[in-house]
Amino acid sequence: MASLGYSKLKNVVPFLLLHVLATLLCAYARPATFNQDFRITWSDSHIKQIEGGRAIQLVLDQNSGCGFASKYQYLYGRVSMKIKLIPGDSAGTVTAFYMNSDTDSVRDELDFEFLGNRTGQPYTVQTNIYAHGKGDREQRVNLWFDPAAAYHTYAIQWNHHQIVFYVDEVPIRVYKNNEAKGIPYPKSQPMGVYSTLWEADDWATRGGLEKINWSKAPFYAYYKDFDIEGCPVPGPANCVSNMKNWWEGSAFQALSPVEARRYRWVRMNHMIYDYCTDRSRFPVTPPECRAGI
Ligand SMILES: *[C@@H]1O[C@H](CO)[C@@H](O)[C@H](O)[C@H]1NC(C)=O
Ligand SMILES: *[C@@H]1O[C@H](CO)[C@@H](O)[C@H](O)[C@H]1NC(C)=O
Repeated sequence: MASLGYSKLKNVVPFLLLHVLATLLCAYARPATFNQDFRITWSDSHIKQIEGGRAIQLVLDQNSGCGFASKYQYLYGRVSMKIKLIPGDSAGTVTAFYMNSDTDSVRDELDFEFLGNRTGQPYTVQTNIYAHGKGDREQRVNLWFDPAAAYHTYAIQWNHHQIVFYVDEVPIRVYKNNEAKGIPYPKSQPMGVYSTLWEADDWATRGGLEKINWSKAPFYAYYKDFDIEGCPVPGPANCVSNMKNWWEGSAFQALSPVEARRYRWVRMNHMIYDYCTDRSRFPVTPPECRAGI
């Protein structure tokens, strides 16, 4: 076969298109991997692939922290990863896992921030939500297990009805779409998936009371089992509006009774800060706190 004539090409093109389409569709049907779906955004020398590429190790030392981000942005879906946090004296370190629209003025952002602590003291998980450029919605819970002893799954689920932050199977935060009541909700800007490990002892440790102990450095955090199920942007145009995506299903529009019970348990036993009840910061209760969950 010396050359591919026009008539042959005509037969080949539809197959090529099908192939491209199949690849695009598969891009969000398969489990995410670090190499295919993420890129290093800060200090390559501090991020190392381990276990034959199945997991990665992030390092924080006196020279630098580090970070990585997804190659694509996503509009709605579920993002999760398993993380094993810094053991021992981790006070002053912050390990973050978040989604961010990467837009300066009207930022949307969904944050998990793991604040280290002195040996034996519980890690604090801070969550925050920016909608249409406004944040200041911090909540903090103490974890009921040692997150440095083993990997645990941290997930953000985002659909047209609600945003839920999960620690393993336990919802620790719910933000409802109350746009009908005039409350902003992230709904039109795609967000990338990010993670960073850095030093923030000026604010993370009870307002800067505890300093990072550099003689314990380097500090290591571990990640694996990246999973992104969502609508990649750029990607299939009708994905975002497709209400048949599993994460839009009725089972995900509100917490199940079991989840609601777990969520109440977290709020009663592990919540240590809620901006909704911080009268010194917000003499007038923010509207989304009044709208109910
Ligand atoms: C660290 O532990 C102390 C004592 O249990 C607790 O009050 C605090 O919220 C924890 N978290 C941080 C970030 O200091
Ligand atoms: C910092 O770590 C060193 C080495 O483990 C220890 O000797 C020292 O007491 C620690 N300092 C603080 C303030 O905890």
